[in-house]
Amino acid sequence: MLSGKRVLLIIGGGIAAYKALDLIRRLKERGVAVTPVLTRAGGEFVTPLSVSALAGEKVHQQLFDLTAEAEMGHIELSRSADLVVVAPATADLMAKIAGGHADDLASTLLLATDTAVLIAPAMNVRMWQHAATQRNLATLTGDGIAVVGPNDGDMACGEYGPGRMAEPLEIVAAIEAAFGAGPLSGKHVIVTSGPTHEPIDPVRYIANRSSGAQGAALAGALTALGARVSFVTGPATVPPPPGVEVIAVETAREMQAVVEAALPADAAIFAAAVADWHVANAGAQKIKKGKDGLPEIALKENPDILAAIAGRSENRPNLVIGFAAETENVAEHAAAKRARKGCDWIVANDVSPETGIMGGAENKVLLITGDGAEDWPRMSKAEVAARLAQRIAAALA
Ligand code: CTP
Repeated sequence: MLSGKRVLLIIGGGIAAYKALDLIRRLKERGVAVTPVLTRAGGEFVTPLSVSALAGEKVHQQLFDLTAEAEMGHIELSRSADLVVVAPATADLMAKIAGGHADDLASTLLLATDTAVLIAPAMNVRMWQHAATQRNLATLTGDGIAVVGPNDGDMACGEYGPGRMAEPLEIVAAIEAAFGAGPLSGKHVIVTSGPTHEPIDPVRYIANRSSGAQGAALAGALTALGARVSFVTGPATVPPPPGVEVIAVETAREMQAVVEAALPADAAIFAAAVADWHVANAGAQKIKKGKDGLPEIALKENPDILAAIAGRSENRPNLVIGFAAETENVAEHAAAKRARKGCDWIVANDVSPETGIMGGAENKVLLITGDGAEDWPRMSKAEVAARLAQRIAAALA
């Protein structure tokens, strides 16, 4: 699939640079020619000798050395590859690309290239979440640069959160997707995520504690395998992954309308924590406290979006997947839910307090398919997403 391709690999200066060595090996195993470029900071983390030994090619480090050499100038180097990959892409490198800087070899190559670019960001969680980095990310994705990761997890700096570079095999999958050779290339997948907000009046609403973390990770993992993802999200706290089409909604009824409008799709995954009810007598104006006593809130059932899509006779996606949060008899309840909703798979998790899964970083999943139940080991939500995306790709193949 990748054999014969040429990748220009820019290794930035972060502790994740060590994973770039493994990435080179994985690419070489697949018959990819890797031309390595090491930034000055990258050279503080991995040695030029390791990089060039693994790549089997000279490592490029200096802008002026290169231009002084008659053999290959920076313009030629930037265009000699089929894809430019930046791993790790530090906050500084992302800022340089977004700003169009060209003050060292890596940034000059990135500005001069006419080739597609894929970045694998890696940095401290605060740096990733900083408004400047998020602004740069939006600029880069707007410029058509593909992004893989970062993942949530424990970081070398001792903090926890998004910022860990994607694993080498995830980057390989994203490289395949960039070449249109991802296992989900050409497939359209709808993912619902986050909570819904059901208004009581223009300023108050009913909500739940869903962060949208699992849905966002899943949308990112599907995109990395080449899928076109319609990401239908309620007001989540975790930002959507780059590269997806984000359709923001508030209520369950809006979510249903948007999901239906996004059809046809090859698969639809319902990771949203949809409110079961909305307020039938929501006030058009802010409800005032006063002499009339406590306001009466009348609840009305929301549409079950998963059941409605799974039960469609026309335009039913080939694979419809629901989530189930259970606190007891997980396998039994989840299997019953699968039958009741008419979906193909249920991703069930035990959210009883002793598991620490609710609001936590990890998940423990039981996957219920038509063939039975699979008990997955406890792993991060990013790993659950990557594994589920692989399974979805296999099912749609
Ligand atoms: N779902 C949906 N629309 C709703 C309610 C739920 O699409 N109105 C989807 C969710 O996205 C999820 C699955 O259905 O994929 C969860 O089903 P639900 O009946 O809400 O199960 P639980 O929340 O686990 O609740 P219960 O206590 O009823 O088992």
